[in-house]
This record gives sequence, structure tokens and C-alpha cells, in this order.
Amino acid sequence: MKKIAIVTGASGGLGEEFVKALAKEEVDEVWAIARRKEKLEEIAALCGDKVISFPLDLTKDESYEAIEKRIIEEEASIKWMVNNAGMGRSLCFKNENVDYMKKSIDLNVKAVTILSFIALNHMEKGSYLLNVGSQAGWQPVPYETTYAATKAYVNNFTMNLYYEYKSKGIHVMLVSPYWIEDDMLREMDHGKDVKLNMVSTTNEVVVYAMKAAKKKKMVAMNKRGVRTMNFAQRFVTTNYAVGTWLKTAKKLVDIDN
Ligand SMILES: NC(=O)c1ccc[n+]([C@@H]2O[C@H](COP(=O)([O-])OP(=O)(O)OC[C@H]3O[C@@H](n4cnc5c(N)ncnc54)[C@H](OP(=O)(O)O)[C@@H]3O)[C@@H](O)[C@H]2O)c1
Repeated sequence: MKKIAIVTGASGGLGEEFVKALAKEEVDEVWAIARRKEKLEEIAALCGDKVISFPLDLTKDESYEAIEKRIIEEEASIKWMVNNAGMGRSLCFKNENVDYMKKSIDLNVKAVTILSFIALNHMEKGSYLLNVGSQAGWQPVPYETTYAATKAYVNNFTMNLYYEYKSKGIHVMLVSPYWIEDDMLREMDHGKDVKLNMVSTTNEVVVYAMKAAKKKKMVAMNKRGVRTMNFAQRFVTTNYAVGTWLKTAKKLVDIDN
């Protein structure tokens, strides 16, 4: 039986880094999924012939069907599944756009849920499911309202699965990054190049996540400072935590507009 890894959002950022890391693991193929075919093919060419580019839009239901059909046709067993594709931006809620919100809920929530379901049904003992949530999912994050709410879902959903699949020997882990220096960060700060604390490179997040998965951690938070901050937040009020966030939000978004 062919052993495969699947990475969504594989055409850049964190996903590209996961593809490169998984191509070094004991799998026969890495299926790299995103919309931009040319970017996927460039990345596949860098990684040798293990990486198969799979151009799909994960906001469309037929994409899930295409993935499952291919898994069945190829009699593949999924060793690693990384639900990484996500979209989000910082913005006043009143300035949001209905189409953008629908797409972000479809990508960040629906695709993660359905692809987790499909993947877990094609996994065996020793397999890994990694879902990429966010620090934004742990507390109220006004001005990233829709994005943070979708990530709260991913954080909770993934930890529920961790407990459900633990006894089956399938390891489910939440990757919970803080800021990452990549395209999404530019979307969040509207290209203002705002100075932010504790920014990671994509490589730091992925190297840490791969090690944490093998150590069977439930949550991978790569920055020590972020782990300390999350621990400390248990002892402060939600108002205090949100107040701290608002100082950063004001640099990212014109909140009076
Ligand atoms: N950047 C941060 O500061 C940060 C912090 C915490 C968590 N995260 C999370 O990390 C994950 C990776 O984000 P990133 O920072 O690497 O973002 P990114 O650089 O913007 O990459 C997003 C990836 O998702 C793909 N994608 C977007 N829409 C898609 C769709 N409809 N169908 C299929 N693929 C789609 C994009 O490829 P195509 O455009 O080719 O489709 C791209 O490969 C996300 O889940 C994000 O929420 C990011």
C-alpha cells in the first residue's frame, strides 16, 4: 500500500515548508494542494519526484470529493495530513465583505473539518493529523473577528480529535503559531510593515511542529515567550488580555474607520 502525506496551502508560507519537511519523511508521495498550479510545480521541482502537485480550490465541495477519489483509486494510506490552508485579515467588522467571510469560513472551518474526516478514515496506527490553528483562536481578538473565530474552532476541534484518536494510535496535533513572517502577515498589517513581537520564520514553526508531533504533543507552540504568555493569561482577566491586543490592533487597523 502506498504511504502518502498531504499538505494543504502548499504553494507558499508554512505549507511550502511542510512539503519540504515531509518529503524527507518515510512516505512514497507528498500531495501538495493549493490553487496556484505553477507555484506548486516550482516547489515540487525543488523537492524531487516525491511531491505531486494537486491544484484545487478547497472552498469548493468537489475538491474534497476529488481528494478522496484519488486516495481510494491509489489505495493510499495517509501517514501525514497537514490541514494548513487558511486565510484571514485584520479589519473592522463593518468593513468586511460577505464573499470574503464565506470563503474564509469554508477554507478555515469546513475544509479542515471534512479533510480531517476523510484523512482519519484512511489512516492507520502511527499516522499523524496536524491542523494549523492560531494564537488568535485562544482569546477574543477584535478586528480579526471572523479569522479569530474560525481559528477558535480549529483549536477546539483539533484538541477534541486528539483525545478521540489517542487510544487508536493516531496522533492528532494542533499547530498554534503566533506571528509568522510571510504573505498572510502582510495581509494582516496591510503592508505597513508594523514591528511585531515574537515573529517566527516558517522554518522555525515547521521544525518545531514536526518534533512536537513525534513527541506526541497535543499543541505545538514554537515560541517560548508565547507559551509563557499563554500560561500567564490564565491569571489575568479577559479584559486585560484584550486590552493588550488592542494596542497592536490599533497599529494594524484604522479602528475609527
Ligand atoms: N502568517 C501568520 O502570522 C499566521 C499566524 C498564525 C497562524 N497562521 C496560519 O498558518 C496557516 C498558513 O498560513 P500562511 O501564513 O502560510 O499563509 P499564506 O502564506 O497566505 O499561505 C496560505 C496558503 O493557503 C492557500 N490557499 C488559500 N486559499 C485557498 C483555497 N481556496 N484553496 C486552497 N488553498 C488555498 C494558498 O495558496 P493558493 O493561493 O495557491 O491557493 C497558500 O498556499 C494558515 O492556516 C494561517 O491561518 C498564520
